[in-house]
Amino acid sequence: MSVHTPDIKRVTTHTIQEMKNRGEKISCLTAYDYSMAGIVDAAGVELILVGDSASNVMAGHETTLPITIDQMIYHATSVVRAVKRALVVVDLPFGSYQGNSREALNSAIRIMKESGAHAVKLEGGLEIKDSITRILSAGVPVMGHLGLTPQSIYKFGTYTVRAKQEAEAAKLLEDCKMLEEVGCFSVVLEKIPSALTKKVSESVTIPTVGIGAGPHADGQILVLHDLLGINKEFKPRFLRRYADLNGVMTDAISNYIKDVKGKSFPNEQESY
Ligand code: KIV
Repeated sequence: MSVHTPDIKRVTTHTIQEMKNRGEKISCLTAYDYSMAGIVDAAGVELILVGDSASNVMAGHETTLPITIDQMIYHATSVVRAVKRALVVVDLPFGSYQGNSREALNSAIRIMKESGAHAVKLEGGLEIKDSITRILSAGVPVMGHLGLTPQSIYKFGTYTVRAKQEAEAAKLLEDCKMLEEVGCFSVVLEKIPSALTKKVSESVTIPTVGIGAGPHADGQILVLHDLLGINKEFKPRFLRRYADLNGVMTDAISNYIKDVKGKSFPNEQESY
């Protein structure tokens, strides 16, 4: 269950719809653990995604494919415990919803029941329509994810920009309209041309949330570890780093090592 704090007004799917309606941008970030989620929530983002990018940034896998539903529930439960205000959305991991709609519903129900999260996110369009509608019919809010869908990386073969060609762009627009029609509350648009994001965001009433999709989405999302500069190697063009935590943490740990070896830590005041 989420933390209940009576004086804090919680963000709901309706809140972010109202934000789109009045033209206010929606700020979103990923989080995977209790400590970070508490900081992200207190800073004031509207939506926290427990992304399957945990597979990369928390577990060190090359792709998002290996992460399991039990591992997603572990991360989501830790995040939900910390969050007092933001809407918490959890990725259904690869293999937990593509088989059939019943399996998709079971996966979504496990995530909602066991973690206390508020919504789930699934990657794909028409090909997973049955899974999406079945989850929605159980009263579980669903966020879509179109464009570069990392669970399909072996189909794409590369993490490059999607939907540059007319046919793929047209399918993406159709998929987004379908997601709106069946009742998804929002959709992530990942790594697509800015002009397409504009067209899609103007063509649907539900909020679009972009990553590497330019300024015209109704909201933006980044992977927290990328924004904080924890991973030095990952430098895509769309990423703006707001801190160099890799440098800050390395300095802090080096100073600690120096003090331990130089016998200045702990001193008398730090001892009993
Ligand atoms: O898993 C994730 O972090 C995501 C975001 C990149 C949108 O899906």
